[in-house]
Amino acid sequence: MSAVASPRRHVLLPWTVQEREDPVLVCDRAEGVYFWDRQGKRYLDFLSQLFNCNLGHGNRRVIEAIQRQADKVCCVSPQLLTEERIALSAALAERTPGDLNTCFFVNSGSEADDQAFILARLVTGRPKIFSKYRSYHGTTFGTLGVGGDPRRAAIEPGPPGTVRFFDPYCYRCDFNLRYPECRLHCLDALERQLQLENPATVAAIVVEPVTGAAGGFPLPDGYLTRLRQLCDRYGILLIADEVITGFGRTGAWFGVDHEGIVPDMMVFAKGLTSGYVPMGAVVVNDRIAQHFQTRMLPLGSTYAAHPLACAAAFACLEEYDRLQLIPNAQRMGALLRDRLRELANRHPCVGDVRGQGLLWCLELVQDRDSKAPLVPPNTDSLLPLHIRRRAWDEGIHLMARGSLILLAPPLIITAEQVQEGVEKLDRVLSWVDAQR
Ligand SMILES: Cc1ncc(COP(=O)(O)O)c(C=O)c1O
Repeated sequence: MSAVASPRRHVLLPWTVQEREDPVLVCDRAEGVYFWDRQGKRYLDFLSQLFNCNLGHGNRRVIEAIQRQADKVCCVSPQLLTEERIALSAALAERTPGDLNTCFFVNSGSEADDQAFILARLVTGRPKIFSKYRSYHGTTFGTLGVGGDPRRAAIEPGPPGTVRFFDPYCYRCDFNLRYPECRLHCLDALERQLQLENPATVAAIVVEPVTGAAGGFPLPDGYLTRLRQLCDRYGILLIADEVITGFGRTGAWFGVDHEGIVPDMMVFAKGLTSGYVPMGAVVVNDRIAQHFQTRMLPLGSTYAAHPLACAAAFACLEEYDRLQLIPNAQRMGALLRDRLRELANRHPCVGDVRGQGLLWCLELVQDRDSKAPLVPPNTDSLLPLHIRRRAWDEGIHLMARGSLILLAPPLIITAEQVQEGVEKLDRVLSWVDAQR
């Protein structure tokens, strides 16, 4: 492609003030855990692009599976089956826990969450969806307005029937308590809130097993188990948004596996195809699947279960197994955790280090004792943009958002590459220290 004077002249970039994005990084090619810009500069991809490229770049088996499928057939109505659709849904059902056996395919995480919320309403006949304040479930009207992330301001008032509850955000507990002495008081508060809302009006509660860009914190031990019990007590469906946490990201196939609970629906995207072709899915339990055997399922989209995406997803599942990426995510995740804790000791700007597997978050503060956030909530600060640019200068790709730095390298990462990333991050944090 020929070079153009201003690369973003004809493009609106997401989640940004357009004019702030000069210069913009133009990605040219990628291989393994690295990508290169048009000037030939190399970047260590410590974010798997956007938490999605779990297999790393240029995986030959996935690429060849897509190529073979392209030769065979590209366009198939979502109302028909193909061998690959059948095989992929069976392979997913095999890996998902309990009786999560039936897949409804879509094209993105937003669409998958959106459809899961509608399915919950259809199955229960109840109107409300409960979600955490620090959560992000997508960019459509039906998901942006359910997630609690400040980005929801764009469409407020959001979908009717949305109710938000306080998170188990232990670093800044909303109840001023400490885990584990708190005995998960936040769940007692949630139960009280459900009672006041009338639980018979609540269709579903949605949670991310590790909150992604909206907070970067794992749910504390025991939380999901008690949340499952709470949902059962009131006949409420539990939706696990595994868009980031699915497919090995946290060192298990799925985030809920760490607690051994079975939600009623799991929502997938990102790692499902490792980002090679867009795809999302809602995997539902037998009760929900049964509901639609005799009733209309009034949902669907033209590109659902696209043949190229099915081919990519099936090849990805095989690669997660063949390359033993889940054990690798555990090993490399433990190494990354230890190195990040060492960094935190040396850099006063780091208030908290938290995460699971290969999904980590540094929360930045002005002062560790007061925990004053580096970027006060809901303020329009240029600092995160500058941190991201600084990281690019160092040759590392990460997410800087508000006071958070989020890290999610590909699951194929080696110990040497973890070390390389930590050294680059060390220099970025020295720069942040100097800004306070
Ligand atoms: C937890 C979670 N849910 C849903 C989404 C939306 O997925 P997508 O961007 O594929 O629409 C995201 C995106 O980052 C996410 O992190």
